[in-house]
Amino acid sequence: MTVFNFDIKRKSYEAALKMTQSALAAGNIEEGKYYLSSASGLCAQLIANCVVEPMKRRYEGELHKLQSLSSSLEKGVNPFSGERSAPKGVAETGGASRAGAGRAEAQGGGGELQFFSEKAPTTTLNDVAGLAEVKKQIRLRVLAPLQNPELYSKYMDDAGCRILMYGPPGCGKSFVAEAIAGELKCAYAIINASDLLDKYVGEGPKKVVQIFKEAERFEKCLIFFDELDSLFASRESDDSRHTKDILTTFLTCLSGFHEEKSGCVRVIIGATNRPWALDTALIRGKRFDTHIYVGLPDAEARAFLVRKAFSKNASLLGGDIGEERMVDVLDGYSCADISTILGKMKEKAFERTLENFERGVGSEEPVTERDLEEVMASYRNSVTAESLELFKSFENGEI
Ligand SMILES: Nc1ncnc2c1ncn2[C@@H]1O[C@H](COP(=O)(O)OP(=O)(O)OP(=O)(O)O)[C@@H](O)[C@H]1O
Ligand SMILES: [Mg+2]
Repeated sequence: MTVFNFDIKRKSYEAALKMTQSALAAGNIEEGKYYLSSASGLCAQLIANCVVEPMKRRYEGELHKLQSLSSSLEKGVNPFSGERSAPKGVAETGGASRAGAGRAEAQGGGGELQFFSEKAPTTTLNDVAGLAEVKKQIRLRVLAPLQNPELYSKYMDDAGCRILMYGPPGCGKSFVAEAIAGELKCAYAIINASDLLDKYVGEGPKKVVQIFKEAERFEKCLIFFDELDSLFASRESDDSRHTKDILTTFLTCLSGFHEEKSGCVRVIIGATNRPWALDTALIRGKRFDTHIYVGLPDAEARAFLVRKAFSKNASLLGGDIGEERMVDVLDGYSCADISTILGKMKEKAFERTLENFERGVGSEEPVTERDLEEVMASYRNSVTAESLELFKSFENGEI
C-alpha cells in the first residue's frame, strides 16, 4: 500500500505554485498552464488526505482560486503579468480602438501600461446567470453614467462609482467584473493580491500609485481589485503587517480620483468573500459606497447554467433526467460548483459512449439520474450554511 506523505505532497504543491507563478509572470502561458494543472492535482490530493478541518478548508479555497486562474488563462487573461494576451475573438469586438478613443487627452499618454489592458474581454452581462439585482445596480451605477454622461451629471455629483461585491466563492464576482468591462468596451485592470503583495516592503504602495496613474490616462476605465480581503485586511488584524502601507496609499489615491474633470467616468470594483475582514475605512463614506451581495444562483439562474452546459448537444438531456430535476438538486450550490458537477456528469456519459463505440454499438449516451447521484455523492459543496449566516450578519451590520 502506498502511504500518502502529506509533507512531501505539500512541498511539491508549493513548488508547483511557485513554478506556475514565475512562468506566468514571465509570460510563458503554456508552461504556466502545465504547472497550474499539476498544482491543482496536488492541491486536490491534499484536500482528500487532510484531516485538519481548517487546513482542509484553506486548501479548498486555494483550489477554487487555481480553478479561477485556469479559467482566466483559457480566456487569454494572465493576471500575473501586466500584459494580457487578447482573449479569443477580442479583435472583432473593436474594444481596443474604442478604449483608445477614450484616452484622456489632457493627461497625455506616456509609458507602457503595466496594469491596464485596452482590449475589452468578450464576456458580457448576457453570459452571467441570474443576479438580477446585481445587473440592475450595474446598469444604473456603471453603464448609465458611461452611456449618458450628461444626464448622469445632472443627477449625481461625481462621475464613476466604487462598488464592493461580496459573497460566497464561485458565484460570479470576478465573472461579473469581466462582463462589465466587456459591456463598457473600456480599458480595464484586474488587480489580484499577488499583483501587489511584494516581498520587498514599499513595492506594493508604489504599484498602487502606478495603477491610479495609469487609470488617469483614460476617460473611461474600470479597475477591479479582486481578493480585497487579502489586500486590505483590517489594520488591527495580524494579516495586516504587509498590507497596512498598501491600504493607506490606496485610500489616498482613491480620495480625489473621482473628482476629475467632467466627462471622466471611472469605475472601481472590489470583490471579497470575507467582507467582515476588511478594514472598515474601506467601506465608509465615499470609499466603497455601494455594497452588492453576489449570492447563490436562484432556480432561474441554475436553469440558465444547465441549458448552457448542454447547449452544444441537447440530446445529452434525452435520458431519464431533465432540466427541472437538475435545477432542483443543484439548489444551494454555487455557479462554479454547478458547472463542475454538470461537467462531471457529461464526463460519465461520455465514458459510456466511448465504451459503446469500442463495442461497436454506435449510440451516444445521455446523462442519467444515476450520473447525477454518483457525482453528488462525492461532491463537496464549497458554500457552507455557516458562511451564508456570516454574510447575513454582515448585511445586517452585526459583524
Ligand atoms: N453568475 C454566473 N453566471 C455564469 N457563470 C458563472 C457565474 N458565476 C460563476 N460562474 C462561473 O464560475 C467561474 C468562477 O466564478 P468567479 O471566479 O466569478 O467566482 P467568484 O465569486 O469571483 O469567486 P471567489 O470569491 O472565489 O473569487 C466563472 O469563471 C464562471 O465560469
Ligand atoms: Mg473572484
